[in-house]
This record gives sequence, structure tokens and C-alpha cells, in this order.
Amino acid sequence: MRREPVREYPTVLRSVLVSKHVYREAIDHLAGRVAVDYNDSDESLSGAQLRARLGGKQGAICQLTDRIDAPLLDAVPDVRVVSNIAVGFDNIDVPAATERGVIVTNTPGVLTDTTADLAFALILGAGRRIGESERYLRAGRYTGWRIDLLTGWDVWGATLGIFGMGRIGQAVARRGRGFNMRVLYHDPFRLSDDAERELGIEFAKKEEVLAQADFVTLHCALTAETRHLVGAAELRAMKPTSVLVNTSRGPVVDEAALADALQAGTIAAAGLDVFEREPKIHPKLLACENALLVPHIASATVATRRRMCVMAAENVLAGLAGERPPNIVNPEVLD
Ligand code: DGY
Repeated sequence: MRREPVREYPTVLRSVLVSKHVYREAIDHLAGRVAVDYNDSDESLSGAQLRARLGGKQGAICQLTDRIDAPLLDAVPDVRVVSNIAVGFDNIDVPAATERGVIVTNTPGVLTDTTADLAFALILGAGRRIGESERYLRAGRYTGWRIDLLTGWDVWGATLGIFGMGRIGQAVARRGRGFNMRVLYHDPFRLSDDAERELGIEFAKKEEVLAQADFVTLHCALTAETRHLVGAAELRAMKPTSVLVNTSRGPVVDEAALADALQAGTIAAAGLDVFEREPKIHPKLLACENALLVPHIASATVATRRRMCVMAAENVLAGLAGERPPNIVNPEVLD
């Protein structure tokens, strides 16, 4: 059943669950404005614990490790605002929230450049075999300079293929242009001519991007359409010298197919920040020397994570005050 908008209950004391450890600034921002139930732990709450702790509360500040689905929302009918500390919100069943009159918010913008930096680090790191080189050296295997020791693939002047030309895709495109790259992109929504000109990028069909890019980088949200956007067929369509980078969401890539492609030399290397079943990593991927793997750290700088936490606090407070939160993802809920 659809819930009443919060503005009809101005005198109710609002309380908010913060589901997991956050930067202190977020708690300070909430203090005195709402009652806070803070799970100051790096352990996520289980579904049952979330249900219990959210009972009677009007707001939740949650993280991408929290699954917010229809049964949970039904069990906590007082909840009006779910504020996710992430730009992605595939951990939340947004249509179910909208149906129930629950506002959902995210933290876009503040992490754009930090995430683009990490994507570019993976482009450089996978292309120049940095992880492999470091393991080689630490294992005491460096016995002398060789003409073909750990040779990789040039980034400067190469062709960069970007799937998803939103904020982060554009920030990666700018970095690519800084490296004198030709930048191709594919997105269901093509940018205007002016925007393409300003960014120095070319729109291309999916097959063209796959066939021409030396580096393919993924910056799309996880949806039914983008799940396994890159599978065995797409990997076969890429150049054998190409590199795949994923900082979006793990399920955008068919991980088993990628591991097979890396082992068979169908593509040269991959740089991955996200995985299909986090925190589990496909054992075949772990065995691939040509995979540079990092644990979902694309937005992980102190300044950015602090900003994300404060933004999530601002979003929940606005929603509970009956205002339109600055980063609402389901604005139709207020209609
Ligand atoms: C996000 O914001 O969606 C990232 O995956 C975590 O910063």
C-alpha cells in the first residue's frame, strides 16, 4: 500500500537507521535533527537484523551491501526515505519503493572524478601489466633487464571505447583525450553534437566500439539491459591485444566468460574493480595473471567517501522534512 507523504506528519519524531560504519561527519550532520540508530560496524546487518532495526523508523542510510527489497519494505511500513551511500542503487528495488511511496536517493557527482581516476589507473595498470610486474619483482624473479620483459600495450594515442557516457564516462573520456586517445562511445542516449565536439568523442555502434577499441571501459548502471553486456560473443569481437576495464557493476560482465577469454588470449588483459558475486571472486579470474583485480575501491578516497556520507545524510534529512531531496532517484514518488 502506498504510504502518505512525510509532510502530513510534521510533529512525529523522526528516527533514522545508519546501517553500517560511515564517516563521522554524517552522524554529526544527523545529530540533533533526528534520532539516530547507528550500527557502527563494518559488518552488514542481515535481512532479519535490518527488518528489526528499521522497525518504527522513518529513514535509512544504507550501503550497496544492503539489500532493500519489497518484502523488507513491507515489513517496515514507517520507512519513508532510503538514502544509499553510492551513485549506483541496484541494491534497492526502486519500483517496489516507488509503489510504496518510499523516496530513494543516491550520491552522484561527488565521486565522478575519483571513480574516473581509478578507471584510468586500471587502464594504465592492466595495459602496462603493473600488478603482474610487481608480483614478479616481489617473488624475486627479476634477474636482469630483458628486451621483452613484461611488455604491454601503449595507452598514449590508442583507441578508447566507452560504454555508458554519463558523468563518469565523460570524465574518463576527458582523461583519454589527455592521453591523446581516439575516444569512441556507445550509449542508448547519444549526446548532442556540441557535447560530442566539446569532449572530442565519437558515437559508434556497440560492434564498432568492440572491434576498434584498444581499451574498453564500462560506465553504465546495472539494469536488465546491461546485465552481461560483455559476454563471450563481445569478448570474441574485441581485438586480441585489447584490454577490458570494469568499474561499473560486476554483473555487467559475464565473469566466467571473461576468465576463459583471458586464459585463452581472446583479449590481452582486464582491470576489474567490481565482480559478479562480491566479495567472492571467480576462482578462474584469481588464477589469471593478466587480470588486475582491486576490491571495489573506485570512489575510495577519504575526501570523496566523506562527501558521499554527508550527502546521504542531507538526502535523508530533506526527505524526512517533507522537502524534495537533492538526489532523489524516483521523483515520481512525490507526484
Ligand atoms: C557507487 O557509488 O555506486 C560505487 O560503486 C561505490 O562508490
